[in-house]
Amino acid sequence: MKKIAVIGLGYVGLPLARLFATKYPVIGFDINQKRIDELRSGKDSTLEVEDEILQSVLVKENPISTSATGLYCSNQLADIEEANFYVVTVPTPVDKHNRPDLTPLYKASETVGKVLKKGDIVVYESTVYPGVTEEECIPVLEKVSGLKFNVDFFAGYSPERINPGDKEHTVEKILKVTSGSTPEIGQEVDEVYKSVISAGTHLAPTIRVAEAAKVIENSQRDINIAFVNELAKIFNILDIDTHAVLEAAGTKWNFLPFKPGLVGGHCIGVDPYYLAQKAQEHGYHPEIILAGRRLNDSMGEYVASQVVKCMIKKGINVSGAEVLMLGVTFKENCPDVRNTKIVDVIAALEDYGLKVTTYDPWASPAEVDHEYGLACHNRLIEGAKYDAVVLGVAHKEFLTIDLESLKKDNAVIYDVKGVIAEKADSRL
Ligand SMILES: NC(=O)c1ccc[n+]([C@@H]2O[C@H](COP(=O)([O-])OP(=O)(O)OC[C@H]3O[C@@H](n4cnc5c(N)ncnc54)[C@H](O)[C@@H]3O)[C@@H](O)[C@H]2O)c1
Repeated sequence: MKKIAVIGLGYVGLPLARLFATKYPVIGFDINQKRIDELRSGKDSTLEVEDEILQSVLVKENPISTSATGLYCSNQLADIEEANFYVVTVPTPVDKHNRPDLTPLYKASETVGKVLKKGDIVVYESTVYPGVTEEECIPVLEKVSGLKFNVDFFAGYSPERINPGDKEHTVEKILKVTSGSTPEIGQEVDEVYKSVISAGTHLAPTIRVAEAAKVIENSQRDINIAFVNELAKIFNILDIDTHAVLEAAGTKWNFLPFKPGLVGGHCIGVDPYYLAQKAQEHGYHPEIILAGRRLNDSMGEYVASQVVKCMIKKGINVSGAEVLMLGVTFKENCPDVRNTKIVDVIAALEDYGLKVTTYDPWASPAEVDHEYGLACHNRLIEGAKYDAVVLGVAHKEFLTIDLESLKKDNAVIYDVKGVIAEKADSRL
């Protein structure tokens, strides 16, 4: 019987731990005491697992010793000692120079290394470049545990494909790639995932193949979005409506339906740097991957320049003008503000001398303040009117918002997401 410990209970770890807990005894382990407290009280602030669903699997005592199914959340090492199948779902960010920061993976591997026993399997789910599991994590497991890889203990890699805020494509409904450190372990890892993932699994031949598959999924998206962002810049100069062009081109059966936009968050805008770093270590300088990153990273500044241009065209005095930014999270209908590019738009607008008020019903004002030193409101300021309103994130609340009541006479409405086109003066 598999006794599962999930290390890191964030956007990825919690939904997975909840799902495994329907069939296995599961310990959800996290170093963040606040996160453990909220989960034990049956609440998930990431909004990925509905409270009722979470509460239906939560148990009050560690289920591993009794082999009963259920999820027990803990930050105590002793609680994961008896597990035999460890799944690591900790963050893999980049540092300020866009270099992969593997610190959380090293720390989580140390934690698992302390409790590792003969016969255990450790599966990594964090997004990485090919080679991280075997070259970076396994040596930590070996050193801390004193056990030998592929003799005493085994490993796997199974990348996560969830899309935060997406209630349709939930973890069990997305086909999952699996892999193992030997063919037999690959089969064993695959069986565990197959037992809970209704969409099925794809067993990759090696851990490196599975690692590489994940990182190129996100790099491909990044490059495709960079291409349409470049098109948006070109068509803007040519005074052609980019969305109308994409709609027309999209009638061809094999035209890919990407839209221009800001690429934020900690996956699509980050993972290509992981792949680039590994390529550079081996003497290859990626051109397309890094060009895509550069282009997408320039879009915040570009959006701000377009808003200011619209205001000047309408004769609005830009200096000291008031702008309302609708949304600050990195994507719609989700509270995640990590690596949001809306802050780039705000910084550039402020650089032009505009005064920006940010309204987002989904984001935590405390987190926005902590991460970016920015004030964010969960409510509109009553009676306030603005020289420009920028729809930055397509939260469902904004699709029906009364824009007229927020505008000063002659104000500009700019639609970054292309979802309120008929009401906007301009869009990306
Ligand atoms: N969020 C997504 O949409 C998504 C999708 C696919 C893959 N991924 C990848 O999955 C991984 C996790 O992402 P996430 O969004 O769940 O991150 P997250 O920040 O939401 O959650 C990570 C959790 O790990 C905990 N943690 C950090 N270090 C720890 C340690 N040493 N021991 C135990 N717990 C620790 C944190 O407290 C946090 O609760 C990343 O590699 C990410 O790239 C994320």
